[in-house]
Amino acid sequence: MKDVDVVVVGAGVTGLTAAVRLREAGLKVAVLEARDRVGGRLLTETVDGVRLEIGGQWVSPDQTALLAMIDELGLTTYPRYRSGDSIYIGRDGVRKTFRGDAFPVPSDTAMEIKRVAEELDRLAAQMDPLVPWEHPDAGELDQMSFGAWLAEQTDDQEASDNIGLYIGPAMLTKPAHSFSALSAVLMAASAGGFAHLLDADFILDRRIVGGLQEVPLRLAARLDDVVLSAPVDKIVWDDSSAVVGDYRARHVVLAVPPTLVNRIQFVPALPPVQAQMRQHQSFGLVIKLHITYETPFWRSAGLSGTAFSPYALVHEAYDNSNEDVDGDDRGILVGFVSDLRADALLALDPGERREKVLSSLAAYYGPEALTPVAYYESPWQADEWTAGAFGTSFDIGSLTRYGRHLRTPVGPLAIVSSDVAGLGFQHVDGAIRMGEAAAAAIIGATPAS
Ligand code: FDA
Repeated sequence: MKDVDVVVVGAGVTGLTAAVRLREAGLKVAVLEARDRVGGRLLTETVDGVRLEIGGQWVSPDQTALLAMIDELGLTTYPRYRSGDSIYIGRDGVRKTFRGDAFPVPSDTAMEIKRVAEELDRLAAQMDPLVPWEHPDAGELDQMSFGAWLAEQTDDQEASDNIGLYIGPAMLTKPAHSFSALSAVLMAASAGGFAHLLDADFILDRRIVGGLQEVPLRLAARLDDVVLSAPVDKIVWDDSSAVVGDYRARHVVLAVPPTLVNRIQFVPALPPVQAQMRQHQSFGLVIKLHITYETPFWRSAGLSGTAFSPYALVHEAYDNSNEDVDGDDRGILVGFVSDLRADALLALDPGERREKVLSSLAAYYGPEALTPVAYYESPWQADEWTAGAFGTSFDIGSLTRYGRHLRTPVGPLAIVSSDVAGLGFQHVDGAIRMGEAAAAAIIGATPAS
């Protein structure tokens, strides 16, 4: 048995941030990771000769914890390619091009989108995303699905579909009837306001030279005890210590998604409210698609590569060419298929899936989109150490029912991930904030050994 101050379970950004901060404070730390690599939901990998961001990749200006970490680790960023016109396909099925963040919809619809977006912004401004259950209207908003809330706000279907797109398929990756209006407001508040989610140039602003997995890789390089291929299946704990595998520690940072906490056997069992509440937080489902072409052909047609439609299989797509890789002048599109459409797509065989995705892209970019040189679907839903994407969110009513227990430590166990963050909820920024908060709480309570 090895004695350490802290065992960190999970070498995603949350766990590694906590481990680095604890190490810097002079504590003895071991990190146990189930996979044979670090990074969790961040994975930058070359597939069929193309470097891909299989998990998270974008950084936005509100993500100040991530931006500070990027600086600290000596990483640099570059802007997402966005010169030229964006594409929108409306309810009438007509493809239109536009500039800026106002979709080319009928003027009545545009006014409705603006009005409902302002209402969401008003509600988000009243919320501290760390404690959404304290919102003045929390009870009412948490009992109502976001879909029902939208239907109350407007009878303009296209306005409702567009507002819904930015929280449902694009963020929580669940259908709007399956999460509460309070969760929708949390998503907006955690990003600094709904207007930020509507603005792709803001929320998908920059990329990291070398890929976002550089963040966990460089954090791990600062640690000396990161054990890979070491899934934790049992934690024996009392009020002052815990035994995890071969380690005995005064503290444990359990930095795994909430959905995987109940997969671990706790001796004694977690208090009932802890075991209960994590049954009410679940992953959404989105398939991130990577489609590579000989050239970024859309650019010569004056297109930015940015495309949206609440009515298309691929509801959003962007130019994701590797501009940081010298000599790689291929064009890469990244697209997303979410929630119910993802269910239907996954029911098909791989050839049919590819055909459907490419024809959805062809509706945006024209027939050249049908002939890529490489095609890849990120497989997070099939990966036992994630099992969904992008992150987890709450059942209707469960934020107000359980929220106050979300980050409460249990004896020596701190249970954290980006899924319980306030600012940066479900994002790498939130993972850093949660890792730093867990470390600060332990450092405050533990003299260095
Ligand atoms: P994460 O899940 O990354 O880490 C948990 C770790 O615990 C994993 O390494 C896992 O293997 C390990 N683990 C689990 N159970 C274990 C056990 N029993 N024993 C040992 N180890 C165990 N964010 C963003 O900011 N910008 C973006 O563009 C995107 N886009 C995006 C796309 C896709 C496809 C995905 C899947 C996700 C994103 N995200 C994102 C979200 C972002 O990637 C995510 O919020 C953070 O990386 C989560 O970091 P955590 O460390 O909290 O969890």
